[in-house]
Amino acid sequence: MNDYVIENQLAHTISQTTLANVGVRYQGKVRDTYSVGDRLVLVATDRISAFDHILRQTIPFKGQVLNQIAAFFFKATADIVPNHFIDLPDPNVTVAHKCDPIPVEFVVRGYLAGHAWRTYKSGQRTLCGVPLPEGLRQNSKLPEPILTPATKAIRGHDEDISREEILTQEILTEDVFDQLKSWALSLFRRGTQMAQERGLILVDTKYEFGKTASGEYIVIDEIHTPDSSRFFYSDTYPSLLKEDKPQRQLSKEFVREWLIEHEFMGLEGQHLPDLPDSFRVAISKRYIELYEVITGAPFVPDTSMNPVQRLENNLLSYLDMQ
Ligand SMILES: Nc1ncnc2c1ncn2[C@@H]1O[C@H](COP(=O)(O)OP(=O)(O)OP(=O)(O)O)[C@@H](O)[C@H]1O
Ligand SMILES: [Mg+2]
Repeated sequence: MNDYVIENQLAHTISQTTLANVGVRYQGKVRDTYSVGDRLVLVATDRISAFDHILRQTIPFKGQVLNQIAAFFFKATADIVPNHFIDLPDPNVTVAHKCDPIPVEFVVRGYLAGHAWRTYKSGQRTLCGVPLPEGLRQNSKLPEPILTPATKAIRGHDEDISREEILTQEILTEDVFDQLKSWALSLFRRGTQMAQERGLILVDTKYEFGKTASGEYIVIDEIHTPDSSRFFYSDTYPSLLKEDKPQRQLSKEFVREWLIEHEFMGLEGQHLPDLPDSFRVAISKRYIELYEVITGAPFVPDTSMNPVQRLENNLLSYLDMQ
């Protein structure tokens, strides 16, 4: 997509929504959610978070990209695991089954990257109770994908938690845990296969599950998006690994790297830098690139000059029709 389309959108992003006529709002870091009866309206805004902080600047088209990648994968995996997706009434909005979220993130890793690599590098050889072999390097492929759950902290950083701890703290029963684990691994296998067909490696990702009012467990939130996952390009993976060089990747990682270069890692006393417009455009391009590579279809941006108004109109007419 042409840079000028993105540049023109810089002043017309969605930083937040206040849809008084829709329902009760909860504001997450990236999404505004509205509760409407037994459904949840999830608005993917153009906010971006890193190190658990919301950055002050928005990213053009990020919400659309995120929302549409998640919808794409929900549709492509509904045959193996039930999920919350009902409808897509606007490029930025998903209507879903409202659930009681389970306070554990089901993180699946096929490769040793990010937090898992940092833990391994510090000398630890178990992660969330899962043993890891000797001799691995940053970004090495693991013998098989592993589940490394994390608590979904209300405030601050999520923390690793083992199967043992989840059961003894009675967060989940053994049966439910094992069911969700097997679903998470099935989704990861399908995601890996779909990514591979497009020349990408699904490195790691996290899934959230919830319980519906009728007591069923389903996948919620988002899946296989650049906010929740890491992807590497397959063709350059082996040579870069051999040379111990950083992988070419499609994810939020380069935003984290930019912030680190600007002395921000989310720690106390650090100052959150402003993103220059040129960098906002660069981030937008990466998100769009991932959309196009992973879905194999061109990204069709919605370039409304008043996207919040558009979204409210679309939602109200959608809800009216129900
Ligand atoms: N179907 C669903 N039912 C209930 N809650 C859901 C559903 N899908 C997603 N959620 C919740 O909605 C929120 C989405 O917001 P967002 O992703 O912006 O939050 P976040 O950045 O993960 O941070 P936090 O949840 O800590 O505010 C998440 O808390 C997620 O667990
Ligand atoms: Mg989230």
